[in-house]
Amino acid sequence: MASSSFCISLSGASYVVVTGASQGIGRAISVEISKQLGPNSLMLLLARNKQELAKTASLCESDDVKVVYESIDLSKATVKEMNDVLNNSIQGRKPSDFTNCIIFHNVGSLGNLSIETARMEDVEELRQYYDLNVFQVIALNTQFLKMFKEFEDRIIIVNITSLCAIKPMGGMAYYCSGKAAREMYFRVLAEEKKHIKVLNYSPGPVETAMIDFVLAEAVNDNLKDVFLSFKHQGTLLKPEITAKKCMRVLLSGRFGPGEHVDYFDDE
Ligand SMILES: NC(=O)c1ccc[n+]([C@@H]2O[C@H](COP(=O)([O-])OP(=O)(O)OC[C@H]3O[C@@H](n4cnc5c(N)ncnc54)[C@H](OP(=O)(O)O)[C@@H]3O)[C@@H](O)[C@H]2O)c1
Repeated sequence: MASSSFCISLSGASYVVVTGASQGIGRAISVEISKQLGPNSLMLLLARNKQELAKTASLCESDDVKVVYESIDLSKATVKEMNDVLNNSIQGRKPSDFTNCIIFHNVGSLGNLSIETARMEDVEELRQYYDLNVFQVIALNTQFLKMFKEFEDRIIIVNITSLCAIKPMGGMAYYCSGKAAREMYFRVLAEEKKHIKVLNYSPGPVETAMIDFVLAEAVNDNLKDVFLSFKHQGTLLKPEITAKKCMRVLLSGRFGPGEHVDYFDDE
């Protein structure tokens, strides 16, 4: 991990977007960041399941933090819909009202785990996977950058990545290649925009619906064994634990531009 070069203070009014905020790591990140925010802060939570978003919102709301949420299918949303959802969320306030403008790109899916890598040929299915996990993430990020284009030095971007972005895992070609592409996009952005803070945070193996999906769907024996042993040995992290570490890394500023920081990295 890079040595500290800056410290982030959230004591002013912040605007925070979290994608995939209806459960799992996204919910935990929403709760943890909400505890750090100063007066007049505003959070926008995005995912499809409105009821679960409402639950996350109720966990985040306080005298200092207003929370709005919107049910949106991020795999299909148009650029205009993304734009509208961001602009509507600030409700009469101006981008200049916020001293920090933060987005957590947490949304993610695993892709088809039931096909061997050597047999992948369904390009339409791959496209749909990349739509949600890469292309639409980039498009939403661009709308966010446009919204705060005059205040780039206030922008903080956290991409929730994975060890799978930098280390191949048999049976997860959709996931590994998508995470690698997504992480590299954020690294290139960090390279170009030196005054925007960009963190690629890898949360470690976390007890969420994603793990159950691997156990139910994976055809690769090694992949299944790895996740079964995580589960049986009790080594899966609770979402709150990794979300707290993400906040510590972020607020301490101990990361280089676009750096991949893992839960298990030393602090
Ligand atoms: N769990 C792990 O061990 C682990 C490890 C490394 C990295 N990660 C990464 O951490 C992030 C969160 O994972 P998680 O384990 O918390 O997964 P999860 O429990 O499956 O949560 C995924 C989130 O994404 C949302 N989502 C999925 N498809 C969507 C769509 N089409 N439109 C809008 N929202 C959508 C889901 O909400 P709705 O269903 O309500 O839309 C949900 O809130 C992912 O990027 C994942 O790759 C997880």
